[in-house]
Amino acid sequence: MTERTATMEKIISLCKRRGFVFPGSEIYGGLAGTWDYGPLGVELKNNIKKEFWRSMVYQRTDTVGLDAAILMNPKVWEASGHTAAFADPLVECKICHERFRADHQDEIEAHHELHKKKGEQPEFTEPRQFNLLVEAGLGSVEGEKMKVYLRGEITQGAHANFKNVLDSSWCKIPFGIVQIGKAFRNEITPGNFLFRSREFEQMELQYYVKPDEKESLRWFDYWKEERAKWYRELGISEDRLRFREHAPDERAHYARAAWDIEIDSPLGWKEVEGIHHRGDWDLSRHSTYSGVDISYYDEETKERYIPWVIETSGGIDRAFLFFIADAYREEPDKDGVRTFLKLNPKLASYKAAVFPLLANKPELIDRARKIYETLRGSFMVAWDDIGNIGKRYRRQDEIGTPFCVTIDYETLEDGTVTVRDRDSMRQERIKDIELAGYLREKLS
Ligand code: GAP
Repeated sequence: MTERTATMEKIISLCKRRGFVFPGSEIYGGLAGTWDYGPLGVELKNNIKKEFWRSMVYQRTDTVGLDAAILMNPKVWEASGHTAAFADPLVECKICHERFRADHQDEIEAHHELHKKKGEQPEFTEPRQFNLLVEAGLGSVEGEKMKVYLRGEITQGAHANFKNVLDSSWCKIPFGIVQIGKAFRNEITPGNFLFRSREFEQMELQYYVKPDEKESLRWFDYWKEERAKWYRELGISEDRLRFREHAPDERAHYARAAWDIEIDSPLGWKEVEGIHHRGDWDLSRHSTYSGVDISYYDEETKERYIPWVIETSGGIDRAFLFFIADAYREEPDKDGVRTFLKLNPKLASYKAAVFPLLANKPELIDRARKIYETLRGSFMVAWDDIGNIGKRYRRQDEIGTPFCVTIDYETLEDGTVTVRDRDSMRQERIKDIELAGYLREKLS
């Protein structure tokens, strides 16, 4: 086992043990490609979404939010090209019938080796295109159910509502529609923990610009940099983030240009987000297929045109995986190894943990409870009174809680508490009434 694989296994085990991520439907033997987020995982995941929304909607004046339905009229997927072209090349092992993506050579080679070890000579079928859309039956009359698709990308909800958004808001080109939501894909080989699943969440911007080569490329470069900055500001270091341009034969059917933002983790360099130049593909196809004119009238130039689209499309689950993997630390200390998650405090599930120094002293417990209840009004805060303080620090370090607050006898005398910083392990005493302000400043 390589060091990277061992680290990945430790991260997956920590995620399960501490309630970040559980295998989907585990008590029934699981369901491949699905994961459930536990009590700590849902907080971290929501914090990622909050930071995305803050930077893409609240801090901007040229974007609006949208939350479109997962189920859409099936014609949407014909118009978008997904029923015809949203496919991966599939090959099947002729011995055991396991299926692989033909472009995932490393997985095919590993499978080859497995059979060779048993003295078998495996052969694979010729590649054939396998459509990734997940189907569902909608309606209450058996035999008359309508075949619909669980959306393969959240994108089409924005384009199908382009006219509604224009007609109901102040938006003028250039402007963007921002969404977060679930997408579903019949992945041939789900795997690598949260990296490739069949149900996952996306965070996207569809940015509508003038149909002009120079102008659209300027926005393309702008959004590439903005999105990379977002990951860096939330903790991914410069040397672990890079861009990769798609070769022409690798691009999705709608893309005129495509770059990935990749992050280095124990899985190697992997895509976390795609920046795509979608041209007028979506809006012209929806105009044609729906028969509704989805063009834009530019009041300034007195022109009517179909806008072009620059898209940023990231995976929440992948971001979750990469933020945790990037934050994972093991450092030797006097008791062995200290494991901690050096998460940006904005992302951490708990912002602080409150400890009474001793669990059997009612006066300490009462004071600590009051502080805990006050902080809980504004922050996600943990309570821990089990074991000695060292063990409590370790438990909080492992889940990335940035600050631990201890209430002791000095607190009863002068109202000060000890605040211990997760990363430096330095401790300082501050007044308990200043705690909320202290945390707010650290989180800003
Ligand atoms: N609207 C464009 C689009 O969906 P994509 O590159 O297919 O583009 C965008 O997907 C992002 O969605 C990816 O960069 C990745 O983060 C996430 N994603 C795609 N497939 C995924 C899967 N099977 N499991 C987890 N995340 C996935």
